[in-house]
Amino acid sequence: MDAAYKRVMDSGTYIMGSEVDHFEKEFAAYSNVSHCVGVGNGLDALTLLLRAYGIGAGDEVIVPSNTFIATWLAVSQCGAKPVPVEPDPVSHNMDPARIEKAITPRTRAIMPVHLYGQVADMDPIMEIAARFGLVVIEDAAQSQGALYKGRKAGGLGHAAGTSFYPGKNLGAMGDAGAVLTNDAEIAAKVRKLRNYGSTVKYEHTEAGYNTRLDELQAAFLREKLRVLDAWNQKRQLVAKKYTEALQGTGLTLPQGSPWGGDVWHLYVVVTAQRDALHQYLASRGIGTVIHYPKPPHLQGCYAEYSQTSLPVAEQLAGQVLSLPMSPDLTDAEVQEVIDSVKEFFARGE
Ligand SMILES: Cc1ncc(COP(=O)(O)O)c(C=O)c1O
Repeated sequence: MDAAYKRVMDSGTYIMGSEVDHFEKEFAAYSNVSHCVGVGNGLDALTLLLRAYGIGAGDEVIVPSNTFIATWLAVSQCGAKPVPVEPDPVSHNMDPARIEKAITPRTRAIMPVHLYGQVADMDPIMEIAARFGLVVIEDAAQSQGALYKGRKAGGLGHAAGTSFYPGKNLGAMGDAGAVLTNDAEIAAKVRKLRNYGSTVKYEHTEAGYNTRLDELQAAFLREKLRVLDAWNQKRQLVAKKYTEALQGTGLTLPQGSPWGGDVWHLYVVVTAQRDALHQYLASRGIGTVIHYPKPPHLQGCYAEYSQTSLPVAEQLAGQVLSLPMSPDLTDAEVQEVIDSVKEFFARGE
């Protein structure tokens, strides 16, 4: 990382230089797609994609009810309407069996999220999209390196947006994101939109944004991309240890996808005693996080959805807890988490 930093300092180029060029090529190759366009963050990646597809006011986009709010915000920022679809209660990912009912004449796109590092069931989603003439934009923010039936997340739909927020499996040292696609025209549109709607300096054919991936972040990401698979394997080992040790404790454990290839961005357990467990672990110095305590439709910024009933997402929000997950957890730390969870349930609380 120090060498990457020095490369950028020595180059004197901080925006749109060779580090971004190289990273885009390297991450496209890693993801098995033809085009990667670096942008400022994951929310912008999704927003620019929707705009590149011409989605806007009067359009509807199908989104998961159970996701981080950015998935919805991207749709709203384009002037389109997010239409929520409930998750499968086992995978917590969008349930393909519920999508068709949500389609109307205004639907333009489906945005599945590969939540917690587990790819959504893309085959039925692509089949429905083909039948109804819809675009599929993957929200691949939590799934760098994840596989679906042997194929990489981010190359399964028509395009994908991803986030390199520091906590992600491939995390920068600040905000960063990217668009992935095999569609040259969409990639070119996103390239233009990220740079004030311009491809020729001081010529602006669209009212674009300033949301470019910067050189320093690209240089850091290039270094981390080299170890992404190794770090994902470490996450898989941690997940395996949790799953083996926590059977029968009273927690509902994540099943993992039937197609394998999960990269365990998060290890999310479900329990009716979530808040007590969260507090107990905190008292033992173990930090856990709730992803997410309130679904998008119940957020203040989506007051128009406040009467919408989405019981699966609402129940998950009350019961999910993410155990510590990181490639650099030591065996002793993993064991401490396991022992503490077991102690909590042994106390009968
Ligand atoms: C599922 C999902 N979508 C979108 C985003 C937005 O990414 P960013 O924070 O880089 O804007 C995130 C992460 O924060 C995310 O987890």
